[in-house]
Amino acid sequence: MATVTFTGLNMPKDLTVYAVAGDTGTLLALAKKHDIPIPFQCQDGECGSCLVKVTYLDGKTPMAIDLTEKEKVTLSVNGKLNRSLLEAAENAHLPPPYRLACQFIVRDETILVEFSGEPGVE
Ligand code: FES
Repeated sequence: MATVTFTGLNMPKDLTVYAVAGDTGTLLALAKKHDIPIPFQCQDGECGSCLVKVTYLDGKTPMAIDLTEKEKVTLSVNGKLNRSLLEAAENAHLPPPYRLACQFIVRDETILVEFSGEPGVE
């Protein structure tokens, strides 16, 4: 079971939600299902509106670090993914701190998701 805690400046308090097997999809889909106000526009990895910071809390090796090509480009253009972070993700499977909620697939992990409520600002 995934345990995802959302914290945003536009939320009155943090909210932890649980996603069971078969309920896994994108982080943005999970947020929308629970009325978490993460900004979004394209929902296709191109606009950067759904930028979030993801912190892994369970001490296990992260599973959801595969970045789509669109996510790599959009994060790079927005200054959130430099060469060393990309190489760490691709070669050492170390997740970058910033992700696009519409591209991040929720796995059986415990994570903290931070966002500002402003499109494209974590
Ligand atoms: Fe556009 Fe996620 S909503 S990149």
